[in-house]
Amino acid sequence: MRAVVLREPGGPERLEVEEVDEPEQPALRVRAAGVNFLDVLVRRGAYPQMPPLPYVPGSEVAGELDGRRVLALPAGGGYAEAVSVDPAWVFPLPDEAGFEEGAAFLMAFLSAWLPLRDLARGTVLVTAASGGVGGAAVQVAKHLGAHVVAAASTDDKRRFAQELGADEAVGYEDLPSCDVALDPVGGEVFSACLAALRPLGTVVAVGFAGGMWEELSPALLVGRNVNVHGFYLGRLMRHDPDLVRRAAEEVLDLWHAGAVRPVVGGTFPLERAADAHRRIDERQHVGKLVLVP
Ligand SMILES: NC(=O)c1ccc[n+]([C@@H]2O[C@H](COP(=O)([O-])OP(=O)(O)OC[C@H]3O[C@@H](n4cnc5c(N)ncnc54)[C@H](OP(=O)(O)O)[C@@H]3O)[C@@H](O)[C@H]2O)c1
Repeated sequence: MRAVVLREPGGPERLEVEEVDEPEQPALRVRAAGVNFLDVLVRRGAYPQMPPLPYVPGSEVAGELDGRRVLALPAGGGYAEAVSVDPAWVFPLPDEAGFEEGAAFLMAFLSAWLPLRDLARGTVLVTAASGGVGGAAVQVAKHLGAHVVAAASTDDKRRFAQELGADEAVGYEDLPSCDVALDPVGGEVFSACLAALRPLGTVVAVGFAGGMWEELSPALLVGRNVNVHGFYLGRLMRHDPDLVRRAAEEVLDLWHAGAVRPVVGGTFPLERAADAHRRIDERQHVGKLVLVP
């Protein structure tokens, strides 16, 4: 079968389609594979827990398994015509949904729903608000009744976040005071989110797409009465799989009910996986990019 193989870390051109062995059973026939920032970090060799190479990226897919239309979270291997999946991480694809939407849903919505479900209140600031996790967080926070402020780097991205339901959209230099901030960007943007918190506010650290976090002393948190909430889906899936599975059912219910929807920002054939990664490297994408074998 065909799969995108990463043999050495580096630029997008390192992603090349090769013929590889079929995976072990049960194997899901991949109809669409979501591109996540995690795949970009692994491809660059910058992920803290690097898998052994050669590696087929892809931790989120939609496709067919035993005649059922499903979405699934495999442990890598998704950029391929088939991938082996743990039945514990397979969910039914809503009837009305396409495979591409299915491959653009779970990772982003679990990463938004799990932290925000309990924390969202008052004004929720979402950074990288036109991206995968950010776009999901805008919709989830709005659904939870918050006043949502989206932050993104360009006018087009800010407009896009408002179409997803944000009440306001700002640049990173204009972050307003807020009760909760969900931040996939890291680096200086994370520090700016922390500075924007009202007393008793919380910043959810989700990612470091824009650079590693700066050092942080508890003295700052104590002095300002603010909280940092770290969130890492992969570890939670290992530590408390039942909790994550219940959350997956909750977000799938929200999708069914029309309260939230996945946002596919572009579809690429498997052979053009490098172009999809390039678009993310160049910060050009909105929503989630999807590969179709
Ligand atoms: N902790 C977890 O469990 C978990 C789960 C899923 C994802 N994540 C993390 O969350 C982040 C978002 O993931 P995603 O897949 O949804 O990606 P994404 O948001 O679709 O793309 C990254 C976003 O980061 C912003 N950004 C800022 N500086 C950037 C830079 N130098 N290069 C590229 N983008 C930059 C971009 O928006 P602007 O141009 O508007 O700034 C872009 O939309 C990633 O760091 C990812 O690793 C973590």
